[in-house]
Amino acid sequence: MNQIIQADCLKELADFPPESVDLSVFSPPYDDIRDYKKNWRFDFETLGKELLRVTKEGGVAVVVIGDATRNFAKTLTSFRLAVNWVDQIGWKLFETVIYKRDGNPGAWWNTRFRVDHEYVFMFFKGQKPKTFHKEHLMVPSKHAGKIYTGTDRLTNGGFKVIQPKAVNPMKCRGTVWQYATSNTEGNRLKLQHPATFPDRLAEDLILCFSEPGDVVLDPMCGSGTTCVMARKNYRNFIGIEISEEYCQIARKRLEVEVYPQQERLF
Ligand SMILES: C[S@@+](CC[C@H](N)C(=O)[O-])C[C@H]1O[C@@H](n2cnc3c(N)ncnc32)[C@H](O)[C@@H]1O
Repeated sequence: MNQIIQADCLKELADFPPESVDLSVFSPPYDDIRDYKKNWRFDFETLGKELLRVTKEGGVAVVVIGDATRNFAKTLTSFRLAVNWVDQIGWKLFETVIYKRDGNPGAWWNTRFRVDHEYVFMFFKGQKPKTFHKEHLMVPSKHAGKIYTGTDRLTNGGFKVIQPKAVNPMKCRGTVWQYATSNTEGNRLKLQHPATFPDRLAEDLILCFSEPGDVVLDPMCGSGTTCVMARKNYRNFIGIEISEEYCQIARKRLEVEVYPQQERLF
């Protein structure tokens, strides 16, 4: 607990006790988009089974993933993972959120759309997620202060008149979440890793699906973003990473970004 472990996550997870993790947040290597020093393996079916075993009832696993394009065709690795985890393994899909990010300009965009999103698949185990907070995800309502009158569409296509009511000043964020990329966070240590997700994305997910004191796992933790944001928010963390070089970045990030403010836990 509260360590970055250098290991292949499939081997390491096999030693975890069942029902010991509240939340997993991770981004796997997919489709050879980065080579990670040729040092990676991603068997998403076995990983899905192991994560389901180690996750508590009502626990959540969040996978941030996209698809490469090969000869103008998308690989569909992301959707294949989602369908496999639900149909074959037993996870349930709570929601699919689009993580919208800035895409870099490149010559290849002359023949394709510029890709500026990844998928955030949120899976849960059991009947429903045991934790769901969205106060930190509220955004100001465009029509705050106005009285709403209008109609709702019925399932048969008809209209139902809505009684006039005041519009709430805040509303829940929808299913497109926009963040600046890690490149703009100004964290040179983090940028030593080639493919990180934004701190805020990890933090929003951790605050949504876990409580202080819970166990948050990142089985492929790279520069340690999930672990740093979990610990900053008083969760326990476990980071697994196959590359010793990336483990060192993650450990250093904890030293620099977390432990000056908090008691060191390991
Ligand atoms: C997309 S990166 C994760 C980046 C991370 N979310 C961050 O913000 O820094 C994926 C990581 O998975 C690691 N990895 C690949 N196969 C692994 C395995 N079998 N076990 C553990 N880590 C693995 C790679 O070395 C790489 O650092």
